[in-house]
Amino acid sequence: MATMRIVLFGATGYTGRLTAEAMVRAGLAPVLAGRHHDAVARLADRLAPLSPSRDAEPRIAVADVADPSSVRDLLESPSDVLVSTVGPFLELGAPAVEAAIDAGAAYLDSTGEPPFIRRVFDEWGPRAEDTGARLMTAFGYDYVPGNLAGALTLRRCREIGLPAARVDVGYFIDGKFAISSGTRASAAGVLLAPAYAFSRGTVVERRSSGGRTRTFALGRGRDWTGLPVAGSEHLSLPRLDPALTDVDVWLGWAGRWTKPASYAGAALGTLAAIPGIGSGASGWVSRRAARTTGVGPDAAARSSARTIVQADASDAVGRALASVRLEGPSPYDLTADLLAWGAAMASTHTVAPGARGPVDAFGLEALERGCSDMGLVAVT
Ligand SMILES: NC(=O)c1ccc[n+]([C@@H]2O[C@H](COP(=O)([O-])OP(=O)(O)OC[C@H]3O[C@@H](n4cnc5c(N)ncnc54)[C@H](OP(=O)(O)O)[C@@H]3O)[C@@H](O)[C@H]2O)c1
Repeated sequence: MATMRIVLFGATGYTGRLTAEAMVRAGLAPVLAGRHHDAVARLADRLAPLSPSRDAEPRIAVADVADPSSVRDLLESPSDVLVSTVGPFLELGAPAVEAAIDAGAAYLDSTGEPPFIRRVFDEWGPRAEDTGARLMTAFGYDYVPGNLAGALTLRRCREIGLPAARVDVGYFIDGKFAISSGTRASAAGVLLAPAYAFSRGTVVERRSSGGRTRTFALGRGRDWTGLPVAGSEHLSLPRLDPALTDVDVWLGWAGRWTKPASYAGAALGTLAAIPGIGSGASGWVSRRAARTTGVGPDAAARSSARTIVQADASDAVGRALASVRLEGPSPYDLTADLLAWGAAMASTHTVAPGARGPVDAFGLEALERGCSDMGLVAVT
C-alpha cells in the first residue's frame, strides 16, 4: 500500500519557503516540489536540520505547470495531500487542482484570487466529488480567519437564540505591512476580473465596489474602513447556516485612502465591463509582475504587522446581534502555519469530497484550536 505524502508545490517561492519551514518544523516530512531541481535541493538541504527526526527530513521533486503531466506525477495515491503556492493562480493554478482531482487526493492552496476561488467551488468541486478529491482553496490569511470569525459569530447567534441573516467580515492589518512578489502579481491579475458577493440568498456577480465601504468598530482611535472584496466566505459560510441571506467581506488595508480607492474600483469595474479589457489587460500586467518570484518581507518586517479580522452578524432588519474579533500574527506567517496545519489535518482526518471551506472541512472546534495554537485567537 502506498504511504501518504504531503507535497508542497511552489516550495522555492516566498510563501512556499515559509510554508516549507513550517512543515519541516512540524515533522511532516514534506516533498518539496518546484520547477528547478537545484533550487529545491538547496532548500531541502537548508531545512533538513530543522526536522525533528531523520525520517521526517524533506524530500524533493521537480514539476512545472507548463507540463501538467509532471504535476500529476507529484501524486501517487488518494491519501496524498498537495499544497500549492504556485501563483498567480489564474495563470498557473489549474494544473495542480486538476492533478489532485485526477488522483482523488487532498488539495490546499494559498490563493486569494476571487475568480479562482469561485472556479474551485463551482467547476472543480463537483468533479472532485466524483473522484473523491478534497479541495480546500484559499487556505491562508485569505480567507481562513474570516471563515473562522464568521462561524464563531454564527455560533454566538445560535447560543443567544437569534438567527443571523447577514455576516460582514473585515480584514485589517495593525502596523506596517509589505507584500510579496506573488501577492503583487496576483493582485494585478484580479484588478479587472469579475468579483462576486452573496446577496439575498444567492451568489451574484459584482464587477466593482460601486463606491461602497463599511466601517468596523475596532476602536484604538483609528478608522477601520474596508472595501468590498470577494472571498471564500461568500461561498462557504452559507453552507454552515441556511438562514444566512447576505455575506460581505471588506478589505481595510487602504486606511484613509479607502473611500477614494472605492471610487477608483468603481471606475475600473466600468473599464473591465468592456469586452476583452478585463481579463486581457490584467492578465498581461500579472504575467509581467510574475517574472519576479521569491521576494517578500523579512522576519523583522513581518513581525511589525498584526492580523485583525472581525465578523459582525446582524438580523434581517440590520440589527447587530454578535461580533467576534480575531487577532494574530502577520499575514505571511499565518498563511504558512495555516497551510502546514491544514496539510497535517487533511492527512489524518476524513474530509468529505468536493470543494470545502475551512470549517466544513475540519469542523469549527478543530479549526479554532488549530488557529489558537498558531496565535490567531478571539479577543472579543
Ligand atoms: N491568501 C493569502 O493570504 C496569500 C498569502 C501569501 C501568498 N499568497 C499567494 O500565493 C501565491 C504565491 O505567492 P508568493 O509570494 O510565494 O509568490 P512567489 O514568490 O512569486 O512564488 C511563486 C511560485 O510559483 C512558482 N512558479 C512560477 N511559474 C511556475 C511554473 N511554470 N511551474 C512551477 N512553478 C512555478 C515559482 O517558482 P520559482 O521559485 O522557481 O520561481 C514560485 O515558487 C501568490 O498567488 C500569492 O498571491 C496568498
